[in-house]
Parts: sequence; C-alpha cells; structure tokens
Amino acid sequence: MIEYKDITKVYGEDVKAVDDVSFTVEDGEIVVLLGPSGCGKTTLLRMVNRLESITEGDILLDGKSTSNLNEIELRRGIGYVIQSNGLFPNMTIEQNVTIVPHLLGWDKQKKEERYQKLMKLVGLDVEDFRKRFPHELSGGQQQRIGVIRALAADPPAMLMDEPFGALDPIIREKVQDEFLAIQKELHKTILFVSHDINEAIKMGDKIALMKDGQLMQYDTPANILQNPANEFVTQFVGQDRTIKSLSIHMVNDIYSQNKLKENKKLAKQVSLNTNLRDALGAILESKEQAVTVVNGQNETVGSLDFDGINQFISELTS
Ligand SMILES: Nc1ncnc2c1ncn2[C@@H]1O[C@H](COP(=O)(O)OP(=O)(O)OP(=O)(O)O)[C@@H](O)[C@H]1O
Ligand SMILES: [Mg+2]
Repeated sequence: MIEYKDITKVYGEDVKAVDDVSFTVEDGEIVVLLGPSGCGKTTLLRMVNRLESITEGDILLDGKSTSNLNEIELRRGIGYVIQSNGLFPNMTIEQNVTIVPHLLGWDKQKKEERYQKLMKLVGLDVEDFRKRFPHELSGGQQQRIGVIRALAADPPAMLMDEPFGALDPIIREKVQDEFLAIQKELHKTILFVSHDINEAIKMGDKIALMKDGQLMQYDTPANILQNPANEFVTQFVGQDRTIKSLSIHMVNDIYSQNKLKENKKLAKQVSLNTNLRDALGAILESKEQAVTVVNGQNETVGSLDFDGINQFISELTS
C-alpha cells in the first residue's frame, strides 16, 4: 500500500509542482496518475522512492513513513520503469534483465531461472535475445524488457512512468493487454503515469487526475467518466464519453441484466468478459452484424447486436 498524505513539492524558491495531494494506492491495485504535461506526475512518482525530496507531508509504504526507510532498501522493494525504457545501451538483454538480481548478489542459477521465466512471460525467445543489445530490438521489444527488468527482483510495488509512451497505437494496445495479463497473476501495487485518458481507463483500477499540481479527482474510471467532479475533468475526459464508457463495461454487464438476445450460432463469438468496445468492433466486422456470446466453459449463453449495446449505453448515460 502506498499512501500520499498532504504532499507538497516546491522546486527551488517558488515552483510548486505538487500542491497538498492525498490519496492511497491499495495492495494489488493499479492507480494511473493522469494529467497534462507539467502537472506534477513524474514528481509525485519520484517522491515515493526518494529520487525527489518531499517539501511537506509524508508518503507511507505499507504503513511506514518512507522518510524513515533506508534509501537503498526502499528502492529494492520498488520496481521503477522510467520513460523511454532506460535500458543500458552497452549491456546485453540478459544483463539488462538481471541487473537488480545481480546487484542483490543472487547466484548464477537463480538469475538464469529468473531471466528465463521473465522472457517467457512477455513472449520473447530466451536464446534469440540473450546476447543482443537494446538497439537491436524493436521499440515494443525494448519496452517489454524495460518492464520485466523492473519485475526482476519481484518487488511488491512498481512505479511506471509512461512505460508504453514510445509505442505506436497498435503495438501499445498489445503490450497493455500483455501487462494486464501479467498483473492478473502477480498482483503488484502499481503507480502508472500516463497522459492518455484511454490508456488510463484501460489500465487503472483508479485514476488520479491532476492539474497544476493539484488533485482534481481520484476515482474509478467509471466514476470519472460518468460523474466528473468539475469542469476540468469534463474537458479532459472529452466529448466522446459514450465511446469511452464502452471500454469499461463487459458483455457480462448486459448478460447479468438478462438483456442478451436469443442463443444463435454466428460466425463471430465473444466471451462474457469481452469489453463492449471490443464486442462492438466484432459486431461491426461480422457478416450478420451480431455475435454469439459464450461463457467460461465455452457454452453459448446468448447473442448480442448493435441495438443491444446501444440500449445498454443509453440507459447508462440517461
Ligand atoms: N528539477 C526541477 N527543478 C525545477 N522545476 C522542476 C524540476 N522538475 C520538474 N519541475 C517543474 O515541476 C512541474 C512538474 O513537473 P513534472 O515533471 O512532475 O511534470 P509531469 O506531469 O511529469 O509532466 P510530463 O507529462 O511532461 O512528463 C513542472 O512545472 C516542471 O517544470
Ligand atoms: Mg513526466
């Protein structure tokens, strides 16, 4: 658990980068720090592992003030992914991934096991990449390595500063999906910086929306979309709130209201935990303009078409 308590940060004489911010990241949760450039996201992140000092207030890690913790130990317990991945250019991929275990004095076999496990986790070939250097990888591959390097010593908490920022939209979605799948298994406590509302909605259990160093709203993606706290949040969330709402609701939400249509064997199928944005995509791509819905046992539980989604969303926003 990471607790920000009345945190203020002033750089030099009078640059107030963070202004009296309080919120808590619960264990196993992803909180996205969201907001325009210069609003204080990186500063907030770097105060957790004391790469930046705190002017006023306190940050607690699992109930203990970080100001009392030994800096080295503090950083060992927190994986840090910096913007633009920060891989060491003259180290091989293997060396990059195992740098923290190496510094911690792990033996050779334990390091090798960890290297293999992490590479498999993100679908990169263990031998093929072992001796390559970062510049010999694509941008997406480099960012995957940046993420697993931060996971290498299995820290309970992760600080991630726009970890997927350099990726083009299609690869970015894949890496996001991959990361969410990993998080389902690992349950890390994660602070994740982004300036992209869509990424925040997708990745965040909660979103902390910042403006000029102040916390505008701290809430679930659904509440940020449906109950924006003020004019700034409304503006930041944008006009296409309905479309964005699609990605936070699942086919299961329609199913549990008993509003799926009759069972039908159609060319395309979606599962109950497909989000409505992806389901809509599948419907629009299908010949029949409808999809079969299956449950976890792959049994058909109904069908869904454009009207079904439209009805659900209009009830939601009315
Ligand atoms: N070392 C520093 N000295 C003085 N001012 C700083 C320093 N670092 C950051 N700032 C200022 O503090 C404010 C917040 O900066 P910060 O880097 O936290 O923003 P950010 O939200 O991460 O922005 P971006 O999205 O562009 O990365 C900005 O006004 C910035 O100019
Ligand atoms: Mg930043």
